[in-house]
Amino acid sequence: MQGQEISTREAWGSKVAFIFAATGSAIGLGNIWRFPTVVSQNGGAVFVLVYVLAVAFIGFTVMLAELTIGRHTQRNPVGAFESIKPRTPWKFIGYLGMITGVCILSFYAVVAGWAAGYIFKMASGALKGKLTAEMSNKIFTEFSSDPIQVFLFFGLIMGLTIFIVSKGVKKGIERWTKVLMPVLFLLIVFLAIRALTLPGAGKGIAFYLRPDFSKLNGTVILYALGQAFFSLSLGMGTMITYGSYISKKDNLVSSAGWVTFSDTFIALLAGLIIFPTLAFSGQPGNVGDETLAFKIFPLIFPEIPGGQIFGIFFFTLLTVAAITSTISLLEVPVAYFVDERNWSRKKAALVIGLFTFVLGVPAALSTGGMQFFTKIKVLGLFAFIFGNISLAVGALFICIFVGYIWGIKKALKEISSGNPRFKLRPIWVFSLKFLSPIAILIILYFIKTLKG
Ligand code: PHE
Repeated sequence: MQGQEISTREAWGSKVAFIFAATGSAIGLGNIWRFPTVVSQNGGAVFVLVYVLAVAFIGFTVMLAELTIGRHTQRNPVGAFESIKPRTPWKFIGYLGMITGVCILSFYAVVAGWAAGYIFKMASGALKGKLTAEMSNKIFTEFSSDPIQVFLFFGLIMGLTIFIVSKGVKKGIERWTKVLMPVLFLLIVFLAIRALTLPGAGKGIAFYLRPDFSKLNGTVILYALGQAFFSLSLGMGTMITYGSYISKKDNLVSSAGWVTFSDTFIALLAGLIIFPTLAFSGQPGNVGDETLAFKIFPLIFPEIPGGQIFGIFFFTLLTVAAITSTISLLEVPVAYFVDERNWSRKKAALVIGLFTFVLGVPAALSTGGMQFFTKIKVLGLFAFIFGNISLAVGALFICIFVGYIWGIKKALKEISSGNPRFKLRPIWVFSLKFLSPIAILIILYFIKTLKG
């Protein structure tokens, strides 16, 4: 039965297609919305430094581990653990990943809805002309506290996600990402150049790039690590799932490297837009919450000739980048129900998608829509618990699993298919077996230093 499944299983059209899809999963709101937020909350440049280290030493390691499990087993996360270690509790790491994915999707799609809503805000001219920080804040607050608008766009995003995932890997996911990701990249480079030349940009750059080590503490490290996993789509089996569609001929190491690099590059560029613009608007080093990016981005467009068009374009691409991530979040549980429970793709996407929508109601009402949810900051809370802690726990177990349970030898054999000379091998093995799991464990310990 298994052999049959494998032969009829979908696969990426090519290595490039996989890279685009995986990069599409990685690049999204995490880079452009969440990264600037957590940088602003965690001391600026020192956070950026810890983040880059976490990506290079831990993120890459886990990325390669996930892709390796995925390609070896050609299964969804639950099935993957089950096929390597049958009838053991390891499959629960797969279940944890599925639950985490659904919970992340529930708030992520709300924020993606904000981005979609902002396409129309830009188009309506509400964000045109001389725009002060106060005006921009007010426009966002009015928008995000209006349940009708929020639910409309949240629903739209979920609907599109369900539609694309139900179409399957090749026709749905692949087609979209190939064209749109490069366009997004170019636009972000352009906006960064504009932001860097705004008057007063220097202060913002200093906050963003000149580390103040007195701000380094456990919370900063905990958030940096969590953000690394979130941004790279790690710790919940997304890359196991996407890896399961990779051909045996492809090079997993360079794929992992490419996805890790481009994701980080885009996040760093997004910071180069946000912080100079923040300083330009007279609030350098402002500590923002989950709404920061939406209040700051609009401030740059009036500074560009024809800025309104750029604005419309930017929020459109941000929405697309978000959707290439929402589909990867939904794809994990869908792959499970398709592979293991024999559900049709359509049914799985629809049932899980609708469930996620309901789960997202509190987050959707937490930016002013309903006092109770606003007060307990549901969206931020979900982002922290599922988008940070849960991913770190998942990543820890993935390292232990590949390093000790499945075994390095077998993992290396899988990697060698498509890459006979794996030069970083000793470093990867060291990081996988020792550095990453120990670091994640120590960092998770910092949870108790969190206030409130
Ligand atoms: N990496 C995505 C982003 O940065 C979010 C995501 C997290 C997607 C986990 C899939 C899995 O926007």
